[in-house]
Amino acid sequence: MTADELRTKYINFFVSKGHAQIQGKSLLPENDPTVLFTTAGMHPLVPYLLGQEHPAGSRLTDYQKCIRTGDIDCVGDSSHLTFFEMLGNWSLGDYFKEEAIQMSFEFLTSPQWLNIPVEKLGVTVFEGEGEVARDEESAGVWKKLGISRIAYLPREDNWWGPAGTTGPCGPDTEMFYYVGDELCGPDCKPGCSCGKWMEIWNDVFMQYNKNAAGSYEPLSRKCVDTGMGIERTITVLNGKSSVYQTEIFTPVINSIESAFGGKYGQDSEKDFSIRIIADHVRSAAFILGDPKAVTPSNVGAGYVLRRLIRRAVRHGRKLAPEGIKLSPIADVVVKQYSGTYPELEQNRAFIIGELEKEEAKFMETLQKGEHEFEKLLPNLLKDPRKIMSGRLAFKLYDTYGFPIELTEELAAEQGMKVNKEEFDEAFQKHQELSRSQGGSFKGGLGDQGEMAVKYHTATHLLHKALRTVLGEHVAQKGSNITAERLRFDFAHDAPMTAQQIKEVTDIVNAQIEKDLPVFMETMSLDEAKASGAIALFGEKYESVVKVFTIGNSTTDFFSKEVCGGPHVEKTGGLGKFTIQKEQSSSAGVRRIRAVLN
Ligand code: SER
Repeated sequence: MTADELRTKYINFFVSKGHAQIQGKSLLPENDPTVLFTTAGMHPLVPYLLGQEHPAGSRLTDYQKCIRTGDIDCVGDSSHLTFFEMLGNWSLGDYFKEEAIQMSFEFLTSPQWLNIPVEKLGVTVFEGEGEVARDEESAGVWKKLGISRIAYLPREDNWWGPAGTTGPCGPDTEMFYYVGDELCGPDCKPGCSCGKWMEIWNDVFMQYNKNAAGSYEPLSRKCVDTGMGIERTITVLNGKSSVYQTEIFTPVINSIESAFGGKYGQDSEKDFSIRIIADHVRSAAFILGDPKAVTPSNVGAGYVLRRLIRRAVRHGRKLAPEGIKLSPIADVVVKQYSGTYPELEQNRAFIIGELEKEEAKFMETLQKGEHEFEKLLPNLLKDPRKIMSGRLAFKLYDTYGFPIELTEELAAEQGMKVNKEEFDEAFQKHQELSRSQGGSFKGGLGDQGEMAVKYHTATHLLHKALRTVLGEHVAQKGSNITAERLRFDFAHDAPMTAQQIKEVTDIVNAQIEKDLPVFMETMSLDEAKASGAIALFGEKYESVVKVFTIGNSTTDFFSKEVCGGPHVEKTGGLGKFTIQKEQSSSAGVRRIRAVLN
């Protein structure tokens, strides 16, 4: 079975069970400070899991692109990936444990659907803790259906909440496929140390909201959130033991092979590098190809992207002394996935351009950093404990931009460890120093949140002003907001003139001075477009969307955009808008940095 077939089957199955198919969302969650990336299909649905009505109803299904970097150190093994696709079905106060498990079982085992032999399956359920009882209800349903391998596991394994610290959560039941031939013994159950149980699906029974104070409030209505990993499921369905042996990775691995002129499966060290490159380039292509793409930087999601690209570059140099080019590999990902995610093809030039820029930058850094490390090496090797000082590692970072992860890898190659605590200490001291020197870091998180909302509204004003001055071809290519500034990337292929910058600035400030109210409405995407709202090209929306209008009314307005919010109520409090920089970001894309004072 191919990934395309699985995606279609899953959606069809749940549609046949009364679910509405909704569109997956961006990889970059908007206005959610708790995470850098969309980490699960449930992520964009949090407001609905917490009680808001979903316009598509109480039974939903979709496929969602996800990035998880928590396990980045496991990447390179047979099943951990930074980018993966998650299939999901949700009940918003509709069915609960019994029906959810029955549907999961039917989809997994019915000959019409995945046709997995029951004896290959095992499940885990929550063993209970405090006021939450052992989940005998779920176990009972599984037993009735004929599943005999059931393990009861603690909170650590069978409790699920979103990646952030707050939000909907509850006990879960996880479904595993046994990838070996014979169980390792009579007690071999999912979670067994033989490591042959591959988790493929997870039904979460959301009953609580974990609030900021850390306590669990019962949800007004119970929900189900499930997630099936496409890559892992395709692996087991095709009788493979590693995701890299599936058709999902074949095109990418082939392109890496031709890049260095070798073969996968011949040298375990090279294989490891090939897997890292395959995984990381895939993630980088999806991040850069997202309608809300970030570019490589030293903070937040941009830093993760930078790390992914740079680590791939470094492993490329393990395959061939001069390294391998990543952009042709990314191009393979674009081709492979554009049918399912058209944004990749639409942003192809941007993906390639940004990758090439970052590769070039990093090559320079690497050469300098490695040279410096080699100079330090004779002294380092004298330490009988084989520990490299964290201060020295920090110096490489601070002076040459050499990432700590790479210093650690170079040290490990020499059988040494870096004193990470000392590095962290030096790093933090440095951060504090630069903040107080900058003088711009005031207030706590609350202030930052408020400023970010202001910058978000200012971004809408800027977007419209740019379209007014430069033309309707100006489309948002990226947006990044901190408490200190906004950054806006947009399609336009010439530098702006001083006159144009002044006009745009004046238009934005005029809207701020008018103290215009901001309206929020919900409507269908077609209605939104018909009413003149800007919708991001390539972004997929629900059938019902939120539209934010800045103007005298929803019909007499300056700006109207499809957006998730939040925004200020009136523009008057935004302050004075100034464009600090206007520069090229990549071919055909300009970048503005602006502040509010
Ligand atoms: N949120 C759960 C998970 O990520 C199920 O979707 O596994």
